[in-house]
Order: sequence, then C-alpha cells, then structure tokens
Amino acid sequence: MPTTLARSGPYMGRAGPASPAHIRTMLGSGSCCRLVVTCNAQTVVPTSIGQGTPVRQTSILVVGATGTLGRQVVRRTLDEGYDVRCLVRRRPISSGTGAPLWSSKPETIPATLVGIHTIIDCATGRPEEPIRAVALIQCAKAMGIQKYVFYSIHNCDKHPEVPLMEIKHCTVKFIQDTGLDYIIIRLCGFMQGLIGQYAVPILEEKSVWGTDAPTRIAYMDTQDVARLTFIAMRNEKASKKLLTFAGPRAWTTQEVITLCERLAGQDANVTTVPVAVLRFTRQMTRFFQWTNDVADRLAFSEVLSSDTIFSVPMNDTYQLLGVDAKDILTLEKYLQDYFTNILKKLKNLKAQSKQTDIFF
Ligand SMILES: NC(=O)c1ccc[n+]([C@@H]2O[C@H](COP(=O)([O-])OP(=O)(O)OC[C@H]3O[C@@H](n4cnc5c(N)ncnc54)[C@H](OP(=O)(O)O)[C@@H]3O)[C@@H](O)[C@H]2O)c1
Repeated sequence: MPTTLARSGPYMGRAGPASPAHIRTMLGSGSCCRLVVTCNAQTVVPTSIGQGTPVRQTSILVVGATGTLGRQVVRRTLDEGYDVRCLVRRRPISSGTGAPLWSSKPETIPATLVGIHTIIDCATGRPEEPIRAVALIQCAKAMGIQKYVFYSIHNCDKHPEVPLMEIKHCTVKFIQDTGLDYIIIRLCGFMQGLIGQYAVPILEEKSVWGTDAPTRIAYMDTQDVARLTFIAMRNEKASKKLLTFAGPRAWTTQEVITLCERLAGQDANVTTVPVAVLRFTRQMTRFFQWTNDVADRLAFSEVLSSDTIFSVPMNDTYQLLGVDAKDILTLEKYLQDYFTNILKKLKNLKAQSKQTDIFF
C-alpha cells in the first residue's frame, strides 16, 4: 500500500481554512492563475505502482455522493451494474443509496483509490476547503487512476472574481496538467435547485427572490446529467474533452417564476433585488474580513444576475455522444410533473385531514 503518497504533495494533510490566494497557489498553473505554482500533480511520480495494474473497468469512485448530482450519479452506477464506492466527508451521513461510504480525510484517500478505475468528482469546490481537490487529483495520478470525470461550471474561466468559479477553472487546468485521462463537464444549472428556490415558496405563499437582470440559464435535470456522463465515459471520442451540458432552453428568473405560477395556479409574491443593489452590497462587504464570505456569495449572485447566458448549442455534443435531443427533459415537463404530484398529495392530505376532523 503506497501510504507515502499521501505526503507527496507539499499541501497534503495541511489543515485549516485557506484564502482564495492560497488556493490559487495550490491549484494554479501557467496562464490560468496569477500566482506562482509550487505544487502540481506531475511532481507525484508513481514509482511503486506498475503501469496497467489490473482493475475492473466497472469500478468507480464517486466523490460528493451526498449532493444533488452525486446522488443521481451513484444511482446510475448501481442501475447500470457498476461497482461503486462513495467518498464522503467525515460526518455521520448516508448517500441514501446503500453504496459503501469511505471517509475523505486526506490520509485515507490512497486506500480509497485501490482497485478504482474511474473517479467521478461531483463535489463542490469550496474556498475554505481546497485541500480535497488537490489531494485527490494528485493521488489519482500517482495511483494510475484511468479516468477522472470532473464537473465544472460553464464560463467559470470568465469570472475570476468569483472564488468558486476560479477554483473550478484552476482545478480543470490542474487536472489537464497531470496527464490523467479526463472528461471535464461544464454545467449551467440544475432543475432540482428551482424547487426550493421557487416552487415550494410559491406553494407556501412565501416570497421568492427575483432580479431585474436578463440572465438566462439552460437548466438540466441531474438525471440527464448523470445519464450523459456515463455515455461520455464509454465513448473514447470524449476522452480529454471539455464538454458543456446545457438544457434545451435558457430561462430568465422571471420566466421560471411565471411558469411556476401557471403550474401552481397561484401568484408568486416576488421581491425584486436590483442588480445595482447586489453590486453595492458586495463592495461594502469586501471592506471587512468577517464579511468576505458574504461578499464571495454576492459575487456569485452578481454573475447570475448579470446579462450572462448560461447555455450553449448542444448539437455537437449530442452528435459526439449519439444522444437524441428529444430524450432530454425540458423544464416545462420537469416542473409540470413536480406540481402535478405535489398538488395531488396536498389534495389527498386535505381530504384525509377532513375525514379525521373531530367535532364535539
Ligand atoms: N447546482 C448547480 O446548479 C450547478 C451548476 C453548475 C455546476 N455545478 C457543479 O456540479 C457539481 C455538483 O453540484 P451539486 O449542486 O450536486 O452540489 P451539492 O448538492 O452542493 O453537493 C456537493 C457535494 O460535494 C460534497 N463536498 C463539498 N465539499 C467537499 C469536500 N471538501 N470534501 C468532500 N466532499 C465535499 C458535499 O458533501 P457534504 O454532503 O458533506 O456537504 C456534497 O456531497 C459541483 O461540482 C458543482 O460545482 C452545479
């Protein structure tokens, strides 16, 4: 067991929060980032492991298995008969799928990777926890992992002012520099996020947040993201490619709210935040160290509230993967199914509560 690999990188095993500058130092290289690189995956040489150590192609490690996308990826691995292992953080949680869970403490990573062919990394990069990505990618390289699938954010290279986007962009460069066989999948947005953001508050007659910005996002169902990921993994032509997955149509916030209102059969109580207010608040919060976190999140909101379009034409990707556009779920259908089910359940609950009403 190559336990020494856990200490190969200069940042391996280092604990505690890190600033975005620290992260850039760890992840950055070449033209990607402004700071000098002292650590890259090529410094980890797999001396003790022979090339082509036999592992089953069906053996997969899912990182971030408890997340919105991670859960669908794990489900897909099980449905398609893969042998799946999940790497999670040290907390008493469950992936909810019955797949075995392994802890993501840096020193446990090498053991977790033994016998693994492909890593699917669904974890969100967090500015305060950058160690995971570096440690995992370095170990993957050192232990001869044969494919690394990484989810990034569409257009993250265009927004270095947003820490999460910068981390994603630098991580992609880092993976590319390792020489690993990879597939980078850039995503625009998930339909699942709209349930908590708009559908539920509208049903509960609570206020929803809107903006006056014309930003458009081509939301995708995470089940479709997982399905296309597996198609890409089996397709040699997708090897070492950066693919962007976008939903069939790009929506503004107002269009999503209007759609939810129509399907819910009731008006939304919308609180509109002008983009100028977001921008001003972000600048104010940048002044104080203790509000930097808030500023980082506002920077992200500001990008989402600008006139950016988070979408791409999918024709080439569909052609590469041999996927029919008609098989991709539309937002109308996704929300229609949600509201039909939830309204039916609410109706049943109301009927049941009437039956059990007790009158004196
Ligand atoms: N949501 C979107 O609309 C969207 C848009 C574009 C791109 N993406 C990308 O798609 C991927 C999946 O997003 P998501 O919405 O499914 O994320 P999510 O629901 O927030 O889940 C994130 C997952 O990452 C894990 N994680 C976070 N930090 C970790 C760490 N330091 N070590 C180990 N695990 C860690 C979380 O574990 P815990 O359960 O322990 O927190 C969780 O399982 C991410 O890469 C995200 O950046 C998402």
